[in-house]
Amino acid sequence: MYLEKFRLNGKTAVVTGAGQGIGLACAEALAEAGAKVVIADRDPKAAAAGCAGLTAKGLNVEVVTMDVTDSTRVSEVADQLASTHGRIDILVNNAGIARSETPAEQVTDEHWLNVVDVNLNGTFWCCRAFGKHMLATKSGSIVNIGSMSGFIVNKPQEQCYYNASKAAVHHLTKSLAAEWGARGVRVNAVAPTYVATPLNAFVKNNPQMYNAWIGGTPMARISSMGAIPAGRLARILNGIWNEAGLHRCRRRDIERARRRVRRKGNAVGDRPAFDHGLA
Ligand SMILES: NC(=O)c1ccc[n+]([C@@H]2O[C@H](COP(=O)([O-])OP(=O)(O)OC[C@H]3O[C@@H](n4cnc5c(N)ncnc54)[C@H](O)[C@@H]3O)[C@@H](O)[C@H]2O)c1
Repeated sequence: MYLEKFRLNGKTAVVTGAGQGIGLACAEALAEAGAKVVIADRDPKAAAAGCAGLTAKGLNVEVVTMDVTDSTRVSEVADQLASTHGRIDILVNNAGIARSETPAEQVTDEHWLNVVDVNLNGTFWCCRAFGKHMLATKSGSIVNIGSMSGFIVNKPQEQCYYNASKAAVHHLTKSLAAEWGARGVRVNAVAPTYVATPLNAFVKNNPQMYNAWIGGTPMARISSMGAIPAGRLARILNGIWNEAGLHRCRRRDIERARRRVRRKGNAVGDRPAFDHGLA
């Protein structure tokens, strides 16, 4: 009976940047749990392809073209969707860019502003626009996709702008959670580790970087989208899970992974480098 508590039947969910990658996996998980899902992406082709894949599985999904950096468009879409669907129950702020591998002293104004604009400003514009409708109905759940890079400094790639933008997303999340919680709107964040998506596909050409990544990962692996279970997402959305929960790592698992790395090494030759879907 516990699983029934995670059902999202009758709910409307919006996922930004859901044309591919983690956003698409979130859209699928939410739709499988019973929600009507809106894929909101700036790239109409990616959004249409993502939507077609989920519709072919019999899931209830629609598409809207929206660039999260355009606050006017974000407000317009939020108003339209709230009016069409009656209410918005769930918002997953997933749209994000990395533009990794630029040393801090070489970062241009354009580079810095672009990353902060998508990752931080875009997240806030969406929280504000969709949050208004949720506050009006005194209920709703927002999940911001932050990153472990908001808490640690990844090695070896240089990406101070990305790390700073994601740290800000996590603190924005806490601030909104404190401000809106008593008014019925929950705001949480997740901090994914490495997940094999087009965002970080560049690592497939860089075995040294790949080894550094999995060497610094307790489970010594890069996650795949299939590792995002619908149940976990639903638990977040139902308020049973919180950000702190996602950082728990069982000591037993860490020790086991470390032993495996010591025994087998991390070299690409020891283990197929891209057996996690980084094709
Ligand atoms: N892949 C990882 O290892 C990883 C790790 C930690 C956090 N994250 C975060 O997860 C989120 C998704 O990452 P991903 O790996 O799936 O990326 P991805 O590049 O595979 O997909 C990103 C999607 O967002 C869309 N998008 C980009 N800018 C947009 C904008 N301005 N407005 C609307 N849509 C936009 C793109 O069109 C694309 O469909 C990002 O916020 C990223 O920072 C990813």
